[in-house]
Amino acid sequence: MAIRIPSLLVLATLAFACMPGCEKAAPPTSGTPAPVTPTPATTTFTIGYSQCNRGEPWREQMDKDIERNAAKEPSIKLLMKDAQNDALAQQGHVKEYISQKIDLLIISPKDSSLTQTVAEAYDAGIPVIVLDRAVEGDKYTCFIGADNRVIGKAVGEWVVQRLAGKGAIVELKGLGSSIPAADRSEPFREVVLKAGHAIVYEADMEWLGDKAREKMQAALALHREKNSIQLVYGANDPAAIAAYYAAKDAGREGEILFVGVDALPHEGIEAVKNGLLAATFEYPNGTDVAIATAMRILKGETVEKKIVLGTRLFTKDNLPSGGEAVK
Ligand code: FRU
Repeated sequence: MAIRIPSLLVLATLAFACMPGCEKAAPPTSGTPAPVTPTPATTTFTIGYSQCNRGEPWREQMDKDIERNAAKEPSIKLLMKDAQNDALAQQGHVKEYISQKIDLLIISPKDSSLTQTVAEAYDAGIPVIVLDRAVEGDKYTCFIGADNRVIGKAVGEWVVQRLAGKGAIVELKGLGSSIPAADRSEPFREVVLKAGHAIVYEADMEWLGDKAREKMQAALALHREKNSIQLVYGANDPAAIAAYYAAKDAGREGEILFVGVDALPHEGIEAVKNGLLAATFEYPNGTDVAIATAMRILKGETVEKKIVLGTRLFTKDNLPSGGEAVK
């Protein structure tokens, strides 16, 4: 894999060569050049980080974590841009980074429509780390994220073991154009349908709590009878928690189990502790691994094309022991 020579290093070398002080230095009086004390060159790597939407709890935490992890590396200068859930704006941000000639791009893309722009950065010789949501094809350096298919299957298996009889399930899916949405849904559906449960309502909540609440209100309106819904699977915790509150408004939260994904300490885990969610599956943001991988790439190492992060199941029972690893 070709790695660009960090442009700032070249600039720093040039700047040093033409430092104003240099011209004024007295020329050596004899043929022996005056000894030069080398100035230790501190290389700075500029990493451009493109966030698709900071306005969600999981991503707010992700931004804090990436800043904290990058701050531990004195050689990193981290630039941050938030596309506020607008894919076109995010494409523009990547293009700006390309013209700035950053040394490495870390992107958490809104959806697959970022594939082409990510490829442009990669083709321009910028190493690219795709974090959390994948893009299509292979024009990037490294993808880092948990395996959403493993999560989807694990949710399905947990539901089958938890639901007695034939259950009626509501599924609130992630944004259809983003790869984790299908990955968290397909294996889940396969497992629960095979076990004889029914998905009585499904909707795209676009990863957003507000949308999920509206969709859940619609589900409750369609299935008005008491006990006509046994479980809601929200593809992220904001959706599962919003669904809980929609059910609470209708006085029906006691008859339904709610399951989500993310397990942020102050969100999903808290909701399990308080009995809002029956379970949540961890989706780590991977920013520590992203910064460590960025450093390896910038130092010239070849890295794995895909780094898969682990996940854990949290329920009220296993919270005290720190959850349970999902295989
Ligand atoms: C935030 C989020 C998380 C989820 C991840 C999936 O935008 O929806 O809640 O786990 O993105 O990519």
